[in-house]
Amino acid sequence: MTEESTTVVILGGTGDLALRKLVPALFTLACKGHLPQGLRVVAFARRDYSDDRYREYMWNGAREIGGLAARRDEWEMFAGNMYYVSGDIDDPHSFDRLKHRLDGLDKGEDGTSNRLYYLSVAPRLFETAVKNIAAAGLANEDNGWRRAVIEKPFGHDLESAQKLNRAVQEVFDEHQVYRIDHYLGKETVQNLLVFRFANAIFEPIWNRNYIDNVQITVAESVSVGDRGGYYDQSGVVRDMVQNHLLQLLTLVAMEPPNVADSESLRNKKVEVMQAIRRPDRGELLRSAVRGQYEGYLGEDGVGEDSMTPTYAAMRLFVDNWRWRDVPFYLRTGKAMADKVSEIVIQFQKPPHSLFQRGPTVDMSSNVLGICLQPDEGVHMKFQVKVPGQGMEMETMDMAFHYDSGFQEESIPEAYERLLQDALAGDASLFIRKDHIEEAWKIVDPLLEAWSDERSTADAPLHAYRPGSWGPTAADDLLSRDGRTWQHVCGSHEANGA
Ligand code: BG6
Repeated sequence: MTEESTTVVILGGTGDLALRKLVPALFTLACKGHLPQGLRVVAFARRDYSDDRYREYMWNGAREIGGLAARRDEWEMFAGNMYYVSGDIDDPHSFDRLKHRLDGLDKGEDGTSNRLYYLSVAPRLFETAVKNIAAAGLANEDNGWRRAVIEKPFGHDLESAQKLNRAVQEVFDEHQVYRIDHYLGKETVQNLLVFRFANAIFEPIWNRNYIDNVQITVAESVSVGDRGGYYDQSGVVRDMVQNHLLQLLTLVAMEPPNVADSESLRNKKVEVMQAIRRPDRGELLRSAVRGQYEGYLGEDGVGEDSMTPTYAAMRLFVDNWRWRDVPFYLRTGKAMADKVSEIVIQFQKPPHSLFQRGPTVDMSSNVLGICLQPDEGVHMKFQVKVPGQGMEMETMDMAFHYDSGFQEESIPEAYERLLQDALAGDASLFIRKDHIEEAWKIVDPLLEAWSDERSTADAPLHAYRPGSWGPTAADDLLSRDGRTWQHVCGSHEANGA
């Protein structure tokens, strides 16, 4: 029997992501027994560390920064399989050294040797990293599989994403490439698929005949913090909309695939992207709002007259049989009142008011809230008769919460699931080449329109107060359509902004 050994190579092994997410996730998986037997972690970064120094750096850093809760003895067991190679992503010789070290570690195991390369480096280095992996002979699959996980942002626009895709595909086949969007690793995001496709009662009403509008909110209370340099070049659309929010939209809107394999799932998701309406410039500017929180210009790394938006709201349409003319409202921002990610499905109002009559009666619609974080669960709002005489009604909430529903199981970190899937060769929760390009095709025209000086009058950059729900112009976007933003999840008392 051949012995398989597997190594996760973290390029950028001393960086923030490795400390915060990757190593803690691998450690947790190891403790749960969810990793291949004897899995090794080889970190590659510039610092001149020995294996032991790196292990100590991680032990301290992952606990302080990554919130790792580990017993020293468990850590020692895990860290014994962790190694360090000092090198430069730009330098092909460093990759020769990496190869030498990897081969050395595999020595004695005559069987298969699998490698997962995790590109946790600055995005401008993705291409170079992939090129140098290939040049050192680290991509060939003679004695085991080779896979590459590529972090976001994948490109800066359509052109750069296509260029990066071409560079990656010179080295790896598409089935070896795992483009990550950590939102897809979230348990509650995957639950969207189960909610829709493992229950018979929702799918028949999941369309334009019953749904009035869909709202996707990903609000963050944090500011840009120490990421000002990156963020100012990126802005909210590249940082959040192009990836996380559009991913959520596709999961809400996609058709059911015949089977849940990665290609079938991803085909259906791409179809949604392709169906998103492409409005002309005027309509595009009218159906989107941009904002910047007060004080952003004083953040480290931010240009003093920066026009980078930290908030965006927009209305999109999915032009297909199921969704034609149902608005999908998206909003996301930094420095907002609360951290909350939720998807709200607002159903149409009852066609006829039976219990209350008169021209002023405003019937409430049923609202379904799919709560992604931090209140993980599902809420359904429906009308209930107020006890007593007459037929007075009130809206009540039927809720499911993960923490009370699954008391024993804690919700795993997104990176745990994604690393485990990449190691198992399941790409369902990773982004395919065509999806990433389609997503850029949707946001590029808006970014372009906003960057045009002439757009300032039609689409001003609204200032908003930190701790608020963003610019009031985002409320107007909905009120023009006779709607308001809805909060369904958590303990929010206020509806709307
Ligand atoms: C990242 C963005 O992709 O997602 C960050 O770059 C953002 O700006 C983060 O804060 C939000 O992720 P989560 O899991 O905290 O909602």
